[in-house]
Amino acid sequence: MSVDSLLTAEAVDPAFATLTPVHRASTAHGWWRSAVIYQIYPRSFRDLNGDGIGDLAGITAELPQLAELGVDAVWLSPFYRSPQRDAGYDVSDYCDVDPLFGRLVDFDALIAEANRLQLRVIADIVPNHCSDQHVAFQAAKAAPANSPERDMFIFRDGLGPEGTEPPNNWQSHFGGPAWTRITEPDRQPGQWYLHLFDSSQPDFNWHNPAVHAEFERVLRFWLDRGISGFRVDVAHALVKAPGLPDWGGRPDGNSTDGFPGQDAPMFGQPALHDIYRRWRSILEEYGPDRILCAEANVDPLPRLAQWVRHDEMHQAFNFPFLHAGLDVDRLRHIVTDSLVSLDAVGAPSTWVLSNHDVVRHASRFGYDGPGPRDGDGIGPSDPQPNEQLGRRRAAAATMFMLGLPGGAYLYQGEELGLPDSTSIPGSLRQDPAFARTGGARIGRDGCRVPLPWRSSEMHAGFGAGRDPWLPLPESWSNLARDKQQADPASHLNLYREMLAQRSTLQLGRGSLAWVEDYCSHTSLGYLNGSTLVVMNVGTEPMPLPEGEVLLRSSAADRNDPLGSGETIWLITS
Ligand code: NOJ
Ligand code: CA
Repeated sequence: MSVDSLLTAEAVDPAFATLTPVHRASTAHGWWRSAVIYQIYPRSFRDLNGDGIGDLAGITAELPQLAELGVDAVWLSPFYRSPQRDAGYDVSDYCDVDPLFGRLVDFDALIAEANRLQLRVIADIVPNHCSDQHVAFQAAKAAPANSPERDMFIFRDGLGPEGTEPPNNWQSHFGGPAWTRITEPDRQPGQWYLHLFDSSQPDFNWHNPAVHAEFERVLRFWLDRGISGFRVDVAHALVKAPGLPDWGGRPDGNSTDGFPGQDAPMFGQPALHDIYRRWRSILEEYGPDRILCAEANVDPLPRLAQWVRHDEMHQAFNFPFLHAGLDVDRLRHIVTDSLVSLDAVGAPSTWVLSNHDVVRHASRFGYDGPGPRDGDGIGPSDPQPNEQLGRRRAAAATMFMLGLPGGAYLYQGEELGLPDSTSIPGSLRQDPAFARTGGARIGRDGCRVPLPWRSSEMHAGFGAGRDPWLPLPESWSNLARDKQQADPASHLNLYREMLAQRSTLQLGRGSLAWVEDYCSHTSLGYLNGSTLVVMNVGTEPMPLPEGEVLLRSSAADRNDPLGSGETIWLITS
């Protein structure tokens, strides 16, 4: 097949006719293949009843703002009943709303408003672990060893003559051992249970069919209430290797030398695929539009592609892309590898730069040297990011991302160019990683700070009442949505224009070919249809490519050279 015939009709600009396409435009059905999905972190979105914590009614009230921004769907982080030891990722009842966020009727009202606005809603499901307050775990603790109740979780006897040592050497993601010993009903020290995260988050035993049945019930409960699918929390962890062998690598499944650990006994086990095949078939009972997206930290990309084969999940987060930062060689490699690997199984790629677990990209990119370690956060005594530099580069990186074919995930507040809050005092920090490491790891609170909506209102319009659960930095009233709406050159208006152009030009369904003239060690250029996207991360300006300027990430004049930390979209024909 000739290179030309691989290019889509609209990509055949004579100047670029010799390009080698990496990916061809897709005509496959499925809204998610090109969707922009906006992550809502409920406790920090909007507090309508003034108790200091965001709520479902607050989300419903502001959904029109998201429809106007131009996203296709929202993903809600957990709002289920929960003691909130890990901000809701410790669920005590999967089929109810936590009173902190409202009631089931508030959820129904949210869905009704989303339907009116033609926004889809995706929920977070947390199947690897629940809360230690869940009735099943309470029952397990009260029942004897080897009982059906204990078999819902992963209980083992300890090692050593008195059973005082944990059953293996696994570590919790949040620091410390991944095992906690219980006191048996007869008040004697007893068995240990596994928790890959906090001790308040016991792992389910996915070798037990009763666990499968329970989660199938939960899926149906929310599908019946009108959701469009699920983001599956730590989807790669549910099944553990038989015998629970010791593991010498890092708790995130990577080996100690930083390379992906393909043999981690707590991750990526083959039996996972059968679970998601079954879930896919349940979703399909509800029609072709309901989706599953894996939060699966699986490397390398061809291995991740196995998660999105035609009868498994629809999407998986592209964490290698997020972690590539602004390293253009790595970015190019990852974009190519993603598209090629996922094309091989007929799945779309996804792209993401921020979420509730990492330092926001406007802060990550605010360093000239090495930035913060992922997941570790930035504390008041750490080197501080340069806010303006970070925001400028964040706009450029987002413009690079939103020009790519596939789906994209945005994290609430990135459209305002929000940085992490780095000034939160230790006494207010809530991420269990902070407490479990004695403050050695700052944790993820900095990216979870409530949103500023209206500059002149109390707490920048997040909520008119008690202090927000984490303080909003004072300077954030300047970043409030209402101020940015009024400023044509704002970060928010850039996002709105990007999303509008992306939709008009159908970039999410488009093609990709690298344009070598614009690829160097400090820049990348690619063609998607007839849109040329060029990002300059070097220190020197670049001559402006030929073409009609559609959009640029800075407020520069249309004819200025492409500045440092800037991206441009042009039409080449
Ligand atoms: C991944 C979630 O995104 C994170 O916030 C949570 O702490 C862990 N999974 C445990 O559920
Ligand atoms: Ca509230």
